[in-house]
Amino acid sequence: MLFKYQPIAMATSIKWTPLTRWTNERHFYSRLQDQRIQEKPMPPDHPPTLKAEDLYRSFAVGKNSIEVLRGVSIEVSPGEKVFLCGPSGAGKTTLLYTLAGLEEPESGEVFIDGKPLYRSSRSQRAIIRNRFMGYVFQNYFLLPDLTALENVLLPSMIRGQAARSRGLELLKKVGLADRSDHLPAEMSGGEQQRTAIARALMNDPPIVFADEPTGNLDSKTRNEVMGMLLSIVDESAKTLIVVTHDRKLATMGDRCISLADGCISSEEKTSGSVVKLGDKIPSDTPTPHQQS
Ligand SMILES: Nc1ncnc2c1ncn2[C@@H]1O[C@H](COP(=O)(O)OP(=O)(O)O)[C@@H](O)[C@H]1O
Ligand SMILES: [Mg+2]
Repeated sequence: MLFKYQPIAMATSIKWTPLTRWTNERHFYSRLQDQRIQEKPMPPDHPPTLKAEDLYRSFAVGKNSIEVLRGVSIEVSPGEKVFLCGPSGAGKTTLLYTLAGLEEPESGEVFIDGKPLYRSSRSQRAIIRNRFMGYVFQNYFLLPDLTALENVLLPSMIRGQAARSRGLELLKKVGLADRSDHLPAEMSGGEQQRTAIARALMNDPPIVFADEPTGNLDSKTRNEVMGMLLSIVDESAKTLIVVTHDRKLATMGDRCISLADGCISSEEKTSGSVVKLGDKIPSDTPTPHQQS
């Protein structure tokens, strides 16, 4: 965006400052808003339950079709911290996308607080996601031309209520108070991941999804980031659904659901112990260098 807007600022003799850049970005992203997103649904008076019923999803690859989800049903209680485990290719990311309204199943339904997600229109689903869900993507998906703060503020801009002070507060909470003006390329993997977590929390959603939030990090940073995520959602009683293939990390939630070949293969209650910032999380599995 720097290159995109700087010539305009120079041509019109506008002094190029972070503020002019911020204002330009704001106008740019406000154009992305669908008018209908302005119609904000009323939040429920209690955190919603997430329920998935008999989800099926397959992908066509060449002449073949891969069945990735084959009748997955789960129910997550308000405030519960659930880990989804399974080997690479088991369908974890596809399931998380489907639960979060990002990937329509071929059959089956996802219910948020009893309301069917996929029977809503795309724009209604966008509103529900923006208001009720935060998503930490496997590869962060930070916009490269926006600073850490601007990235964090995006969900609130889409909602039409950018709150700079909350963005700064969240960056402080994830230990990046001094990085708010940095571009993603100027931050380490762990810092980008923490920015992505702050962005997922921006609209204070009752449900947070995180796909391998520590997958690309070294063991020290992995422990810090997972500890921070668990402690933040715990203090605000959010429902958390985390994908991981690290079985040791998965014991830190309330429940671990294992996925194999597109089906739930097992489910167990886990410690659910609250992790405080700085606590050491047991983990001796090697850091994966590839996505799963
Ligand atoms: N858009 C897609 N097109 C084709 N195949 C896909 C697509 N998304 C996922 N798959 C396939 O579905 C399977 C499960 O993928 P994924 O949900 O990413 O698994 P996991 O996150 O457990 O590693 C993999 O074999 C993957 O190649
Ligand atoms: Mg995955």
